[in-house]
Amino acid sequence: MKAELEEITKGALKRIENAQSPEEIERIKLDLLGRKGRLTQLLRQLKDLPPEIRPEVGRVANQAKAKLEAALKERRNSLTPLHQKREVLDVTLPGKRPWEGSIHPLTITLQRIVEIFYGMGFEVAEGPEVETDYYNFEALNMPPDHPARDMQDTYYLSKDLLLRTHTSPVQIRVMERSQPPIRIVVPGRVYRHEAINARSFTVFYQLEGLYVDEGVTFGQLKGVLTAFINEFFAAELPLRFRPSFFPFTEPSAEVDIRCVICRGKGCSVCKGRGWLEILGAGMVDPAVFQRVGYDPERFSGYAFGLGIDRLAMLKYGIDDIRLFYENDIRFLSQF
Ligand code: DAH
Repeated sequence: MKAELEEITKGALKRIENAQSPEEIERIKLDLLGRKGRLTQLLRQLKDLPPEIRPEVGRVANQAKAKLEAALKERRNSLTPLHQKREVLDVTLPGKRPWEGSIHPLTITLQRIVEIFYGMGFEVAEGPEVETDYYNFEALNMPPDHPARDMQDTYYLSKDLLLRTHTSPVQIRVMERSQPPIRIVVPGRVYRHEAINARSFTVFYQLEGLYVDEGVTFGQLKGVLTAFINEFFAAELPLRFRPSFFPFTEPSAEVDIRCVICRGKGCSVCKGRGWLEILGAGMVDPAVFQRVGYDPERFSGYAFGLGIDRLAMLKYGIDDIRLFYENDIRFLSQF
């Protein structure tokens, strides 16, 4: 009987090892341990054994049974797909989150600025980043050799083609194809061949504004820009107009806002001045109107150009413009 036990165990272990599905395991189990199973029948014969060997054979038989049951269980476990094993599915574990992108801080700022001007009746216009010398300079009252060209170090693609140095050429493109009243803002990327540091990069973003109609005044310009700044920074920040020069506006001004960091007391961001320069503006020069065929006696207009990067830096307290362009995920994912 002991020999038979051994033979059953050996054969069964082999079958279990070779089993390829949980169903097969079930069948082996039935063959061995079912009501008519071989092992079951053998165990039933135990009672007929002589009493002196019964305990010993019984012990061996029970060991064999335990061993086979364990082997069946283990093989079934390894054949059952993971998701069907109830014991490994912990529904309280947090799920795997998909990687979520975020909007670039410059895009957020650009969209917010456009939204505010849209609310004041401005439409959005756009123009090409590769410009001709004519639109970037000449039509804006900067003929060849004009010293103002030096203010904007230019990337030239050929003698006549360049990467636009400002969004102002779109003023010309829009006026050429439409008649006043014109009320537009032009967001866009511009390029300058400049030394890179914390405050300047070779690529940055501007927003151009242009309003042309009969009877447009400098006072309206000041009103619109003040309303914009107060809305953008959600604070009453006074504006200061300083006389300046741009070839395409007359008179021209550079506009400062009361420092958003120290509110005018003087700090490192405003270098103790209490004011921050944020844009250039002025009344459209009659020479520009003549270029696009508008009657300067009849129409007047204002224009302005602001740096989107600068406004984003002030708004978020970012002290290095390069962070916007390095695309370090640790920086970007904060927005
Ligand atoms: N285009 C100028 C620049 O990039 C900024 C500017 C100044 C735009 C005055 C204007 C303006 O529309 O009126 O430096």
